Amino acid sequence: MNDLLEIMLHRRSVRQFTGEAVPAEQLEVILQAGCAVPSSRGSYPWRFLPVTDRDLLARMSHCRKGAAGMLKKAGAAIVVLGDDRFDAWVEDCSLALGNMHLMADYLGLGSCWIQGRMREAEDGRSTEAYLRELLGFPAELKLEAVLAVGIAEHHPEPYTTAGLKTDHIIRR
Ligand SMILES: Cc1cc2nc3c(=O)[nH]c(=O)nc-3n(C[C@H](O)[C@H](O)[C@H](O)COP(=O)(O)O)c2cc1C
Repeated sequence: MNDLLEIMLHRRSVRQFTGEAVPAEQLEVILQAGCAVPSSRGSYPWRFLPVTDRDLLARMSHCRKGAAGMLKKAGAAIVVLGDDRFDAWVEDCSLALGNMHLMADYLGLGSCWIQGRMREAEDGRSTEAYLRELLGFPAELKLEAVLAVGIAEHHPEPYTTAGLKTDHIIRR
């Protein structure tokens, strides 16, 4: 099988972590993967805010109703922010996040995308307002999503080529 496809098939969303720290060198490689993406008009509107403080991670776990609990035992979170003066900021941020998610899996870590844009925190505020107050990022940056990263306690089964949704390919 194609090497890169095999790596991609292994990637899964991991939501169960051991609570151990993520080695700093590995976090750095993940951030580099996020920077290694194409960007509309070369605008690079994404900004990455890594968080490793346990207390902050626990407070961040309330940034979504029932969808961010895994942050309590994650070793790190990467908050992906975008400068919305650039019209393709959402696409650019998504590509960066996808690269980081894949790199985490490749490094043997677990990770999960937590949607931030258009979502609500447990206290009823927007996820963006909740995290902005907690982390203090500037008003000109909008929240795209958070990548929870950690040492996996459980990694779901990798995909196989046979299980791929190839029926979604419109062949003419
Ligand atoms: C745009 C996007 C938003 C997502 N938001 C969340 C989320 O808020 N919480 C969560 O636990 N998983 C979230 N996920 C992960 C998906 O649930 C997951 O990718 C999907 O169920 C397929 O499983 P897999 O990643 O293991 O292939 C999100 C994924 C994407 C691409």
